Amino acid sequence: MPKRFHLAWFTNFTAGDWNGTFSHGGSPWDGKFFVEFAQAMERACFDYMILEDTLMVSEAWAGTAEMSLRQALQVPKHDPVPLAAMIAAATSRLGIVATMSTLAWPPFMLARAATTIDHISGGRFGWNIVTSGEDAAAQQFGLEKLPPRELRYAMADEYMELVCRLFDSWEPDAVVKDRERGVYADWRKVHPIHFEGEFFKCRGPLNTASSPQGRPTFVQAGGSPRGRAFAAKHADSIIASANGVPGMKSYRDDVRGHAARVGRDPDDIKVLYLVYPFLAETSEEARAKYERLVGSDGFIRAALASVGQITDIDFSRFALDEPLPRITTNGEQGSLDRFAQWGSGKTLRQLGSERFDNGLDLVGTPDEVADRMGQAIEEIGGDGFLISTPFQRVGRRFINEVCEGLVPALQRRGLVREVYTQPTLRQTLREF
Ligand SMILES: Cc1cc2nc3c(=O)[nH]c(=O)nc-3n(C[C@H](O)[C@H](O)[C@H](O)COP(=O)(O)O)c2cc1C
Repeated sequence: MPKRFHLAWFTNFTAGDWNGTFSHGGSPWDGKFFVEFAQAMERACFDYMILEDTLMVSEAWAGTAEMSLRQALQVPKHDPVPLAAMIAAATSRLGIVATMSTLAWPPFMLARAATTIDHISGGRFGWNIVTSGEDAAAQQFGLEKLPPRELRYAMADEYMELVCRLFDSWEPDAVVKDRERGVYADWRKVHPIHFEGEFFKCRGPLNTASSPQGRPTFVQAGGSPRGRAFAAKHADSIIASANGVPGMKSYRDDVRGHAARVGRDPDDIKVLYLVYPFLAETSEEARAKYERLVGSDGFIRAALASVGQITDIDFSRFALDEPLPRITTNGEQGSLDRFAQWGSGKTLRQLGSERFDNGLDLVGTPDEVADRMGQAIEEIGGDGFLISTPFQRVGRRFINEVCEGLVPALQRRGLVREVYTQPTLRQTLREF
């Protein structure tokens, strides 16, 4: 029996493939395109759809917002939380994960919103825990700049302790709905938390009833050593950007080691790797499609600008045909490291052209790509993939290529699920 693996899709509430050859017409902002997208994923038995989020109009490229706005690079970006509720109401088995930043959301509001959507979805809601990585995001909330990473994670640790106390502030059987005695909830089973930490203070209890999962499924993407330790402590699923089988394997081994050290069963954490498949009828067509994109005007600049947005680095100030000097960031260090391939001697132009190439060569027919994905997971040891598209420019055509081409090819090989058997997202992830 081949090793089964998990599938999720990484997307966001942006304009999608607004100017592609087969782009969707009309406006995406009513959310209906994303509902159909989720329904296609549900037919293909994906574990979850994750809605990425950031909170600024980036001026990282050349110090202005021109690049971001002209190219619709991460902006406009609408709020994933109401969209998650809308998708939850229009699906019945798929997990829905929304990104909510600990920098932006007061813990009480986050716990309340997450509990509410977990109810609406019947136990399929997940929270992508992020601390935000850009000064421009911090400035939306009255800060002058982003707190340093160590401090962000120290705050996030305390934040987790607090929200978990809130999630647990209602005992699971607190709602009794006893008509005869005239009792809706047993007041002795709802507890204030009186939390007083170094950064946060909250009285509790939540004013929402305990949800089907109790706590939403936790998703995280730590890249730095501190971030990985945080993810290993809390996450049910870790989303990772890593290069090739060796990079993916070492990332997974590392977070599983961290998890075991804090007393968790490493098998309770599913590590999913970000991939960008290119699919077509023949290998040649798929390769041509990939080369057309990577060779197109503006691709390199857009690729560099998009890395710049999440790392707060202005790549316009480096020479394109020289190697990138060693740099660090207070933003997404892991994404920078993956992109920069330190020590490879590659020029910035080469790095830009490889922005969406993670070394697994997922360019080909559905059967070829399915074979390579199966082989990679066999060598890595687990746990699955996070499908995505360059610049989040997703359209119905690509969704169909994946859901009605690649996934059936994976299913024929026994590599992914063909039916949902579990009621909640956390249980779906732990099924195998
Ligand atoms: C696949 C993936 C998805 C991510 N999604 C988001 C996101 O939606 N919003 C965000 O602010 N950060 C996001 N991040 C950044 C992570 O939360 C984290 O900050 C990053 O991986 C760097 O790790 P570090 O914080 O340990 O340095 C993502 C990272 C990865 C690899």
